[in-house]
Amino acid sequence: SLQAERRVRDWVREASRIAVLTGAGMSAESGVPTFRDAQTGHWAKFDPQEMASERGFRAAPQRVWDWYAHRRAMLEGVEPNAGHRALAAFERAWPGRMTVITQNVDGLHRQAGSTAALCLHGELSLDRWLEPPRTCCDLAAAEPGSPPRCRGCGNLVRPGVVWFGEQLPGEVLEAAEQAARACELMLVVGTAGAVYPAAGLAHLARQAGARVVVVNPAPTELDGVAHVVLRGTAAGLLPRLLDVSREEGANP
Ligand code: APR
Repeated sequence: SLQAERRVRDWVREASRIAVLTGAGMSAESGVPTFRDAQTGHWAKFDPQEMASERGFRAAPQRVWDWYAHRRAMLEGVEPNAGHRALAAFERAWPGRMTVITQNVDGLHRQAGSTAALCLHGELSLDRWLEPPRTCCDLAAAEPGSPPRCRGCGNLVRPGVVWFGEQLPGEVLEAAEQAARACELMLVVGTAGAVYPAAGLAHLARQAGARVVVVNPAPTELDGVAHVVLRGTAAGLLPRLLDVSREEGANP
């Protein structure tokens, strides 16, 4: 409602530190499929345990590698949307006041200018070794293939994303938890809130006394932890919520 939106705009103005937790819905208006959409979601077509787990990769390296190669190829012409741009513009206008924490691996926050976005689940553009790399393992010299492999020891290259059952990068998660605890306002945008520890950051912010706002066209598992739920989209709502000019904004 417009009243709820106005209330959130006031909270944005008042908050000296804002954390923004984003999920696949953040990139939906850029044309990137989400995961759990019943019709268009990745998990409506593929089994996440086969496509997004180490066991699945070891069982069928080529099938998994090709799926990620396909997702990378799909991102070629994709642009950040008005939601990504609104976040980056706010960060430029108010340095140090906003921390973007994303579950997305599409790199669109960075492409829009949120260069310090915390990537909880890694990045599709990054590769890494399946086994701990030996001195012979050099990604730049890997033998091309699906997947590429080390010419010396046959170690396989895998996508640099976090798969189900895997640890998140420790320092990234630590920084995200710190931002969640320190913020006065957390915006939870475009995530179903079904996957932990990412979704736990909203609980952390709430417990630390932050105001929590969910921005999502549909109900989510985090609606219950929110003070306000705005039923709208990232590209539609974020430009309105974050358009805080210098005059009216709080001092960072
Ligand atoms: N604007 C905002 N939210 C949207 C939009 C939009 N235009 N379109 C869809 N959404 C919402 C959906 O309503 C849903 O709540 O985005 C959410 C997408 O949920 P998921 O597909 O489950 O994606 P996400 O929550 O990011 O998944 C978390 O699960 O599969 C793993 O590692 C993967 O990072 C992913 C994690």
